[in-house]
Amino acid sequence: MAPPSRWSCTLLLAALGAATASELQIPLIPQQSPSRAGNALGKPLVNTDDLQASIKIESLVERAKDLYEIAQKSVHEYGHPTRVIGSEGHAGTLEYIYSALESLGGYYTLSEQPFPAVLGKVYESRLVIGHEVPESASPMSLTPPTAHKEPVYGDLVLVANEGCDASDYPAEVTGNVAFVLRGTCSFGAKSELAGKAGAVAAIVYNYDSGDLSGTLESPTPDHVATFGLSGKDAGPIIEKLKAGKVVDSIAYIDAEVKQIQTTNIIAQTVEGDPDNCVMLGGHSDSVSEGPGINDDGSGSLTLLEVATQLTNFSVNNCVRFAWWAGEEEGLLGSDYYVEVLPEEENMKIRLFMDYDMMGSPNFAYQVYNATNAANPEGSEELRNLYLDWYADQGLNYTFIPFDGRSDYDAFIRNGIPGGGIATGAEGIKTKEEETMFGGVAGDWYDPCYHQLCDDTGNVNSTAWLVNTKLVAHSVATFALSFDGFPERSKASMQSASEEPAKYHGHRLVL
Ligand SMILES: *[C@@H]1O[C@H](CO)[C@@H](O)[C@H](O)[C@H]1NC(C)=O
Ligand SMILES: *[C@@H]1O[C@H](CO)[C@@H](O)[C@H](O)[C@H]1NC(C)=O
Ligand SMILES: *[C@@H]1O[C@H](CO)[C@@H](O)[C@H](O)[C@H]1NC(C)=O
Ligand SMILES: *[C@@H]1O[C@H](CO)[C@@H](O)[C@H](O)[C@H]1NC(C)=O
Ligand SMILES: [Zn+2]
Repeated sequence: MAPPSRWSCTLLLAALGAATASELQIPLIPQQSPSRAGNALGKPLVNTDDLQASIKIESLVERAKDLYEIAQKSVHEYGHPTRVIGSEGHAGTLEYIYSALESLGGYYTLSEQPFPAVLGKVYESRLVIGHEVPESASPMSLTPPTAHKEPVYGDLVLVANEGCDASDYPAEVTGNVAFVLRGTCSFGAKSELAGKAGAVAAIVYNYDSGDLSGTLESPTPDHVATFGLSGKDAGPIIEKLKAGKVVDSIAYIDAEVKQIQTTNIIAQTVEGDPDNCVMLGGHSDSVSEGPGINDDGSGSLTLLEVATQLTNFSVNNCVRFAWWAGEEEGLLGSDYYVEVLPEEENMKIRLFMDYDMMGSPNFAYQVYNATNAANPEGSEELRNLYLDWYADQGLNYTFIPFDGRSDYDAFIRNGIPGGGIATGAEGIKTKEEETMFGGVAGDWYDPCYHQLCDDTGNVNSTAWLVNTKLVAHSVATFALSFDGFPERSKASMQSASEEPAKYHGHRLVL
């Protein structure tokens, strides 16, 4: 989802390996308390009309102002408001969500789930090939620096195939720069193999003419300093190399990768069948470039508002809300959550609903095209719930790919039905969509996507209110009943797609 950025000083993070993760002994699942508070207080059973009617745009807008103020806590460190993980703005966001939930009189059992993440910073970088500085060269997220944070010198060595196998790396790679075609395996795998082959740096070039900006994801000791390069810039170089000519290069990356901790927040209703949970999530963090009020302040606050209004009702099924951290760095929080979830707990989650970017200024009502053919069974029933609701309201909607760009990814990969709605990021609104939703064709759905201007003015209140009501509808529907919704089965644990996804979060990994 990220605009291919040329970050010179951007924060980049990735989850640590499973070993470290599972060493943390944290309670994952809120224990059910003996008191069934809702019914005891004579609250009416949840129903979708009343829950939807309780959603007011004024409350959402008030909360957005609070969140912007919180983002400003980061100004002294970042020079501008942000809620990126590790910042005071993010710490403030977590406090805000947690204390709002705490004030709800014990309706929810709250838990925090800390997890390790690595924080990467690229301070400076430069790539010279022959006598040229290719315009498209950009260091991958989470790249290590070149040796001693100094320039390294080497000839480009063309790697065979797509460089996914150690045997693709000729002996001449040692002490030189590996030149690898994008595809089949992740950028991280290529960087690691290049490192193992003794390369001083690696360049992954695109298979089409476009720029290539991606992430190495979880660092490993064998990663080498790695750049992405457009296919356009790579073309003439490949010709020279294939003609047996020598192409020399200078690569330089000054970067740092260090470990931090951040936290997911989970709130589960005390009431409701704890063996049959409807789960939903948004992400509490923003990118470092801005305050992230639409991305994903809107989703986080939608969840908080629905969680607040739900307390007026009793529920039959457990409802579990999650505020993920580290989404922007590669879905770290949701990945961690699902990774450490024991199988019997996985089986209790009947479905997961993702709410990321609910009020883009130039919005379209987008529904993830989650199908039972390609995703765990139930994903399509959830998709259809959104379609039916928009249709009932007389509103248009579009399908968008369900391709791994937000926090649903770990769920559907682990057999849990998933889906969600969004209003658009850096995609361009079509003429047809202009007639369907208003707004401006030719512009991004969110012109401030991942930028400083993603502030309180960057949320369309019509779209935000509509979608928050739809979120309320999705919660009310499943909190009341799973009748007609496919049962989880052990077989569905294995139903995760084997096809590697190009995205894991908004950055390319492959
Ligand atoms: C719950 O219902 C009461 C009475 O209708 C209302 O005043 C209140 O705003 C509602 N919401 C919450 C979160 O209490
Ligand atoms: C939705 O996904 C299904 C199965 O993956 C595909 O056949 C269909 O064309 C998609 N529909 C849209 C509108 O994208
Ligand atoms: C839905 O889209 C059609 C064009 O396809 C348009 O004429 C209609 O006004 C739209 N409906 C709404 C509620 O915007
Ligand atoms: C929200 O979008 C609608 C449709 O494009 C537009 O009519 C309205 O003015 C927008 N509202 C705000 C607050 O931007
Ligand atoms: Zn984002």
